[in-house]
Amino acid sequence: MKKVQDYYFHKARKEKYPARSVYKLEEAQKKYRLLKPGNSVLDLGCHPGSWAMYAAKIVGSKGNVVGVDLQASSQPEVKGGAPISFLQGDIYDPEVIEILAAKGPFHVVMSDMAPKTTGNKFSDHVRSVELSQHALEIASQVLIPGGNFYCKVFQGEDFQAFVAEVGKLFGKSKIVKPKSSRSESREIFVLGTGYKG
Ligand SMILES: C[S@@+](CC[C@H](N)C(=O)[O-])C[C@H]1O[C@@H](n2cnc3c(N)ncnc32)[C@H](O)[C@@H]1O
Repeated sequence: MKKVQDYYFHKARKEKYPARSVYKLEEAQKKYRLLKPGNSVLDLGCHPGSWAMYAAKIVGSKGNVVGVDLQASSQPEVKGGAPISFLQGDIYDPEVIEILAAKGPFHVVMSDMAPKTTGNKFSDHVRSVELSQHALEIASQVLIPGGNFYCKVFQGEDFQAFVAEVGKLFGKSKIVKPKSSRSESREIFVLGTGYKG
């Protein structure tokens, strides 16, 4: 992944988050309050742990954050925050999903997953939509009714179909482009609130 040493990179360093991506969740949280104190949260693609740390801070000590990633991460701790537990695994592996589901149900499922980019915009988009669809499938297995879903997708021709799928499963859906997401980046976020169950 390309490291951008901009305002958000330095802000993340100062605030002791391992990645600038934390602000892509923080901005959505400030606007839409998708995470609430006491919530149980599943973080798909959690490495190196910024989203999980931020979520742990918001949901607090009565909440719980579970993360999964292909890459191994050291388990972060957030003073006064929710306990965080990370699992190394692939979300396409049914055994991994079984382990995660046993830790649920969850109030929020969030995914910042990204495929390894190839530089080919079309195939990167297709693989990102596949990952997002799989994240949505997992969310529909582990979310409580009324739960929320926040997911990164690379824009392209299948993007609107994905937004429509989220729209069918949730009371409300929104497309979010946080300021911390570079304007030249094709990434965008889809928020679904009020899982219909
Ligand atoms: C942008 S990073 C996540 C950053 C994280 N949200 C944070 O703030 O620290 C995307 C992650 O998605 C993970 N990922 C991609 N495909 C995955 C898969 N099939 N299963 C699990 N994790 C996956 C990658 O390994 C990568 O670490």
